Amino acid sequence: MQQLYILGIETSCDETAAAVYHTTHGILSNELFSQIALHTQFGGVLPELASREQLAKIDSIVAHALQKAQVTLDQIDYIAVTHKPGLAGSLLVGLSFAKSLAWAKNKPLIGVNHLEGHTFSSMIEHPVPFPHLCLTASGGHTSINLVQNFGEYSTIAETLDDAAGEAMDKIAKLMGLPYPGGPVLEKLAREKNFEDFFQYPRGKADAINFSFSGLKTAVLYHLVANQAYNLEKRQFLKADDLEFIQKVASSLHVCIADIFIQKIALALKQHPNLRAITFVGGVACNQYITNRIRQYAESRGLSFFSPSRKYCTDNGAMIAFVGHYKAQKKETSPLTLDIF
Ligand code: KG4
Ligand code: ZN
Repeated sequence: MQQLYILGIETSCDETAAAVYHTTHGILSNELFSQIALHTQFGGVLPELASREQLAKIDSIVAHALQKAQVTLDQIDYIAVTHKPGLAGSLLVGLSFAKSLAWAKNKPLIGVNHLEGHTFSSMIEHPVPFPHLCLTASGGHTSINLVQNFGEYSTIAETLDDAAGEAMDKIAKLMGLPYPGGPVLEKLAREKNFEDFFQYPRGKADAINFSFSGLKTAVLYHLVANQAYNLEKRQFLKADDLEFIQKVASSLHVCIADIFIQKIALALKQHPNLRAITFVGGVACNQYITNRIRQYAESRGLSFFSPSRKYCTDNGAMIAFVGHYKAQKKETSPLTLDIF
């Protein structure tokens, strides 16, 4: 195997991230600037602000990643960068920066699909056997992929509307909770031991695709029916009732875990000879949901893997990791690479 240094750059949404991967030593650095504090005041990501902040941070984040890895740009063999999907303005910052480096230093460029980054993120730390099933759940995406080998995967289920993390963020917002809603809801739900008080709908049991917009609406109408939300004024009315908020958060967790397991079960029916299940993306930071999926995988005799938190949410390491196997296969991209 060739000894290669790969620089990975990720700017698809509200994180500016860069990492260096070495073919033998693995991840040497993983630097990140998160814009969460900036967007919290607006209750979600503002694309125009996100891209401006990307522009302000990209130079120093990449420099830090190289410094921490103790390599110079001249030593880097390939530059891997997220080129899609994501917020156009944010993507353009990372892609233009990577292209400029590649052109100026005469290094090959590797365009990486952000979702491929998530899909293989559990393999940064674990030798996950092929073929396996990967559930990706984040603020922007929810899908199940059948993973045959490095870079060989196909989508067998995806969301028809909102992503799982997005639904959590929107439901949290309905109750006046801060962005991002996922971690806040998990803390509240833990106080009620993840009991299912309100039995929110699980959707169509025999449909493989996800639909989380319906769940958000079901929670909204449940709030209205419990005099907890005024639809006309768009106002949450039970901000003082912590017990009630905890019960909503708790019930929501059980519902989402059940939906994930229901879809995984359907996917396994279609593909019975798999060896493992992985759970990746920002929502995989959730300990309750991760444990439920782990238990399910084990009950089916399958191994289970999920990345550490720093590789669940958006990061440069997963882009550098995909870059390293694409580099081995000489799968490089032209400097005309675009964000589509
Ligand atoms: O992967 P990520 O950083 O960004 C996207 O690519 O979207 O994921 C962010 C999403 C947010 O929706 C956030 O609420 C969710 O991940 N999230 C969580 C938790 N931590 C982050 N959801 C549930 N439980 C958590 N502990
Ligand atoms: Zn992501």
